[in-house]
Amino acid sequence: MTKLIDGKHISALVRQAVAKEVMQLKSQGITPGMAVVIVGDDPASRIYVNNKKKACAEVGIYSEEYALPADTTQEALIALVQELNSRSDIHGILVQSPLPKGLDEKAVVETIDPRKDVDAFHAVNVGKIMIGDFHFLPCTPAGIIELLDRSGIEIEGKRCVVVGRSNIVGKPMAMLLLHRNGTVTICHSRTKQLAEICREADILVAAVGKANFITADMVKPGAVVIDVGMNRNENGKLCGDVDFAAVQEIASYITPVPGGVGPMTIAMLMKNAVSAAKIQNGLSL
Ligand code: GUN
Repeated sequence: MTKLIDGKHISALVRQAVAKEVMQLKSQGITPGMAVVIVGDDPASRIYVNNKKKACAEVGIYSEEYALPADTTQEALIALVQELNSRSDIHGILVQSPLPKGLDEKAVVETIDPRKDVDAFHAVNVGKIMIGDFHFLPCTPAGIIELLDRSGIEIEGKRCVVVGRSNIVGKPMAMLLLHRNGTVTICHSRTKQLAEICREADILVAAVGKANFITADMVKPGAVVIDVGMNRNENGKLCGDVDFAAVQEIASYITPVPGGVGPMTIAMLMKNAVSAAKIQNGLSL
């Protein structure tokens, strides 16, 4: 019988723990503060930013939104990030991606003080993740590890296959599974015999961005299937990368979309914001 991994419930537990930590910090005179920067009017980004602000308010994190017009210059955006870097009441800085055409996202991210980089996108933090010496973990992969841990799923010694090699999900996901002693394979659009490799997985993470990409014939009976996809099907309904109806018949555990990985991303962002406030106040994590 396949067990559904309930990301809504697990993310609520993480947010509860974060709220408790925020209360403790406030009792020491420290209020974690986060700045959320959005440029332009991408509707999906607007929803994400609203959700992040709401999550901050719910756990007691102070947040400020900077909504800039689409024609904002690179210089103005960099100047804003530099100003936020210098503020002692702002511990986390998040620049929502994608940025409008003409803005250099990489340069903007590299301007964020690595200690305030709650997305863990800065090259310094990416490097720290690689060598296993990290304070912040990228939110989606960290959320997936949390889902596995809280579901009692062992990673050590398991065959893990990550499908997708993005800087935000695929690559750091592989690294985190490796740190936990999984045996990891990364697959991508040029991978040959993809189905065969996926079928070897005890833990299969799908981060492709294509609806129904992972079909039942690609899944070993009893595998744990984690679906990072956020796609719209032909009827406009939100769906993941996994053919859920068929795969749930053979997987041991599976994450639904919505209600699986998605809610974990923001919960882990809140956790990173608290870590940032602690680090910047000389407290241990
Ligand atoms: N756009 C889509 N996902 C993310 C994210 O996790 N962080 C930021 N900054 N932008 C995003």
